Formats: sequence, structure tokens, C-alpha cells
Amino acid sequence: MTMNYSPRKMLVTGGAGFIGSHFILYMLEKHTELEIINLDLLTYAGSLDNVADITADKRYHFVEGDICDANLVKQMLVEFNIDTIVHFAAESHVDRSISGPAQFIQTNIVGTFTLLEAARQYWLEENKWDQQQCRFHHISTDEVYGSLEKTDSAFTESSAYLPNSPYSASKASSDHLVRAYQHTYKLPVTMSNCSNNYGPFQHPEKLIPTIINACLQNKAIPVYGDGSNIRDWLFVKDHCAALDRIICQGLLGESYNVGGDQELANIELVKLICQMLDDIQPGSQPYATLIEFVTDRAGHDWRYAIDSNKLQTELDWTATTTLHDGLLETIKFYLKD
Ligand SMILES: NC(=O)c1ccc[n+]([C@@H]2O[C@H](COP(=O)([O-])OP(=O)(O)OC[C@H]3O[C@@H](n4cnc5c(N)ncnc54)[C@H](O)[C@@H]3O)[C@@H](O)[C@H]2O)c1
Repeated sequence: MTMNYSPRKMLVTGGAGFIGSHFILYMLEKHTELEIINLDLLTYAGSLDNVADITADKRYHFVEGDICDANLVKQMLVEFNIDTIVHFAAESHVDRSISGPAQFIQTNIVGTFTLLEAARQYWLEENKWDQQQCRFHHISTDEVYGSLEKTDSAFTESSAYLPNSPYSASKASSDHLVRAYQHTYKLPVTMSNCSNNYGPFQHPEKLIPTIINACLQNKAIPVYGDGSNIRDWLFVKDHCAALDRIICQGLLGESYNVGGDQELANIELVKLICQMLDDIQPGSQPYATLIEFVTDRAGHDWRYAIDSNKLQTELDWTATTTLHDGLLETIKFYLKD
């Protein structure tokens, strides 16, 4: 168990992706002594544009490479004397996991295993570091808990794992591996499971950028099924603040749920964004007229809701961005592009 951990040399995996890039910017600004090494394969989902603002920062380094490459990962831990790993890198899009699950098994499961094994060897076997000297934080999703009915209570950290898609099953597997490394080897780990993130720099394939881009291009806005599926929306910068709190103050071996406390049916979200765009940049007709219902995703989870009470009471974190403010910042980002 520990509190008040201070990372010095941090390896961030997937730091050219959506959440990882926000996290790097957040941490470099907040922790002035911290050095960050970003390991990212630059798949279709990663872009160095996301971290363009810090390319010249001497406390930031980028390495293009694969988390499944055990030699590379090990070499990086040694070369940079890494004491903290924050693991975002993943295949993250549910639809792609349905059409091509193999890559999800490789990156999300084998990749996580490769990082854990390298950390175990370098920190525990070779350096004999104790639990106060190093930290592995694993980022996961609320989708590992499966789907809720309307009146079910929100997911807590003790909800059963019932993943429904190849994506959520691969994330669940990686969570189990992380937990097992803590239990078996005493690797100092923390974990978090968050709800749907949104904000600037999200890949255009995800729901909110899809809605905004469709409006701006005057194209049909595709909505799965009848649009009744419910998600809880977390602004990405609130998520970064939560991760900082967990990494620096979280208890070892614990997992924390991170939610935005802003549940909404997809169709309501679409209508809200349409309304906001009608005000900010009106088109020839209200944007909601572009809504088109399309065949539902196979095995589509109906509702996710996350209970962040543990994080709020134990680590004093709460999401501070309202859905309206977060969406406004997001919409303005896509308008600027
Ligand atoms: N976006 C969300 O709403 C959300 C919600 C819950 C959990 N998560 C989790 O948060 C993490 C980050 O999500 P995101 O939305 O930023 O993802 P993303 O798809 O935007 O970014 C993933 C990044 O990982 C990199 N990557 C992929 N395979 C790699 C490999 N083999 N080696 C090195 N880098 C590789 C990609 O190039 C990309 O930069 C993921 O673990 C995801 O499961 C995301």
C-alpha cells in the first residue's frame, strides 16, 4: 500500500492516441520535474499532431514502436530508467473488434502481458525496487462489466466482469493479467475503468466526432438502432485529472471507476449536439434533419453507467466539466480544423 507517489521517468504507451496525448500534456504541465517517454506504434488511431505542442519540450521523448516488442520495451525501461508505466495503448474501437478481433487479442492482451513482464523483470528482479519506487497504471473501460438495464445500479469496482464484445473481452483479459501480476509478483499496480471519453483530438470514427463532422459536411448522421442506448460521458481532461490522482495517491492493487456522471441516450446526445451547432454555426436547415437510423451494432450493449464514489470519497476526485461545456470545447475544436 502507498500514498503520495511521485513519478520521475514515466513511460506512456499509446500517447499519440486520444486520451494518452491529453494525459501527457496534462502531466507535463502539472509535474514540472517529470520526464515522459511516449511509446506509440502510430497505428491508424495515433497521430503526432495530438502532441505537436510539446515536441520541442526537453522533458518529452517519442519512440515509435510496438508494445508487443519485448526487446524494445525492455530496452526502453533500461535506457530511460523508467519508474512509472501508464498504459493506454490498445485497439479501442468496438466495431473494428467485431470485424477483426485478432489485432485486439494481440495488442490488448499480448501487449499488456509484454509490458507487465518487462516491468517485473526490470523493477523487481534486476533492480530489486520496492513498492514505493515504481508504479504500473493500467487504463481500462467500463465495458468489461457488460450491459445494464434501465433500473440497474451503476457499475462499481466489485461488479462482475461480463464483457460482451471482442474489444471488452480483450480489455477484461488485460485487467486480469494486471491484477495477477500484483497478486503473484507484488508488482505495484493500480487500475482504472472509465466511461466513454470525449473531447478534442478524438479519432473521427468515434460517436461524437462522427456527429459533428456529419453536421459540418451536411451528411447523414448515422445512429445505431433506435438510438436508445445509454452511455455515461466523461470529458477527457477530467479523466486525466483522475488518472493523476490515482497514480500519485491511489492504493496499490486497487482499481478505481471513473465516470462523468452524465448519462444520456445516444439519440439525446445527437440532438443536443445538433442544437448546439444550430446556435453556433447554423446550416440551411436544422442539423437534426440529418439524423438517420442505421442497423444496430451486433451485440450492442444497451446501457453503461459508472459509480465513481470510491474515487470521490477516497481520493477526492470529481468530474468538474458539464456536458454542455465539454461539448462546446469539443465542437469548437472540430470547427477550427
Ligand atoms: N476513448 C474512450 O472513450 C475510452 C473509454 C474507456 C477506456 N478507454 C481505454 O483508454 C485507452 C486509450 O483509449 P483512446 O481512446 O485514447 O484510444 P486511441 O485508439 O485513440 O489510441 C490508442 C493509441 O494506441 C496506439 N497503439 C495501438 N496499438 C499499439 C501497439 N501495439 N503499440 C504501441 N502503440 C499502439 C495507437 O497508435 C494510438 O495512438 C485504451 O486502453 C482504451 O481501451 C478508452
